[in-house]
Amino acid sequence: MTAGGVLIDLGPRSYTIHIGYNLIGRAGEILRGVLGGERAMVVTNYTVGSLYGKSIRDQLEKSGIYPVFAEIPDGEEYKSLSTAGELYDLAYRNELDRRSSILALGGGVVGDLAGFVAATYLRGVPLIQIPTTLLAQVDSSVGGKVAVNHPRGKNIIGAFYQPSAVVADLAALKTLPEREVRAGMAEVIKYGVIADEIFFGWLEENLERALSLDPAAVEEIVTVSCRIKAAVVKEDETERGSRAVLNFGHTVGHAVESLTGYKTYRHGEAVAMGMAAAARMAVRMGLLGQAEMDRIVSILVRAGLPVDVPANLDREELIRSMHRDKKVVSSRLTFVLPVAVGKVEIVRDVEEEAIVSSL
Ligand code: NAD
Ligand code: GLY
Repeated sequence: MTAGGVLIDLGPRSYTIHIGYNLIGRAGEILRGVLGGERAMVVTNYTVGSLYGKSIRDQLEKSGIYPVFAEIPDGEEYKSLSTAGELYDLAYRNELDRRSSILALGGGVVGDLAGFVAATYLRGVPLIQIPTTLLAQVDSSVGGKVAVNHPRGKNIIGAFYQPSAVVADLAALKTLPEREVRAGMAEVIKYGVIADEIFFGWLEENLERALSLDPAAVEEIVTVSCRIKAAVVKEDETERGSRAVLNFGHTVGHAVESLTGYKTYRHGEAVAMGMAAAARMAVRMGLLGQAEMDRIVSILVRAGLPVDVPANLDREELIRSMHRDKKVVSSRLTFVLPVAVGKVEIVRDVEEEAIVSSL
């Protein structure tokens, strides 16, 4: 582990995830050498902008960059082509050129949207991610998936586009609502299950410390999570195969989010249901022991996350939604299933009966 930073090693597209406390107030210094040109656009939302926008503006101005600010309303529905269109207009009106950076200051919604605009405006301008939710710090700001939603489906319009740097200021998590901390913890637990039994064991010992935002515990979970994601992305940047392990819990999770209109559950909560279902599916298929499944389900419960798909969600509708998921290959349902704590396999042709009974 590199204290204070993790390198995403992708040859010419390599970059550093800077991890630490009060980094937003030092962003100018940290990003020296990354910020080019004289102009920049900061994309944020009203909630995050009111908390950290001034600090970023001061930092950029000290570096001689006078940024234009784009503050969007808060919510998944604004991760849309229509909001992207407004951002293109603003960038164009303010004469952003190919050397101008786009900075995404916020959670995954802002990061995915601003990343999509950075990937497409002038065929690509430098992107800097400044994630302010736990989920964005451990997952969405890292690895280059950027997207907006189509009215009929989430993340349908997108690209792989790596940022030039990620600045994960752990102090920003202090203002995050507790529910968002728990939702982000689902993705942290995911990393333990898919890749690192020692980290999973550490989480079992230290979960409450991490949930209460103990500084050393938060630094550990963000750093280890980013290190695991960095290794997966280095192997398979554009998800030709092995990167799919990051989708553990997501097949069921996306179906739950879709059926509930992306309004009832946070992304991490739906993924928690999906991870518990995948663990139960794996036991039923003889791939995982009952005791290991219990470890996975019980840490999710301790994190205050849901582990059962509500009975009022129609099972046939859920299966139909899983078939519509863009990760389905040749209409077969593919799942990432745990075969041990710390190891998963991609399993094709899972029977619908096994899926339904795991929910
Ligand atoms: P979010 O961006 O909606 O943020 C959650 C809430 O927290 C929002 O209300 C936001 O305003 C608020 N907030 C953010 N930072 C705050 C802070 N420091 N203090 C107080 N409030 C703060 O949600 P999210 O969970 O961060 O991201 C979810 C999105 O990420 C989804 O659109 C999902 O599809 C996407 N995602 C993308 C990837 C990827 O690889 N690109 C991975 C996972 C999720
Ligand atoms: N969040 C899944 C991925 O980055 O591949």
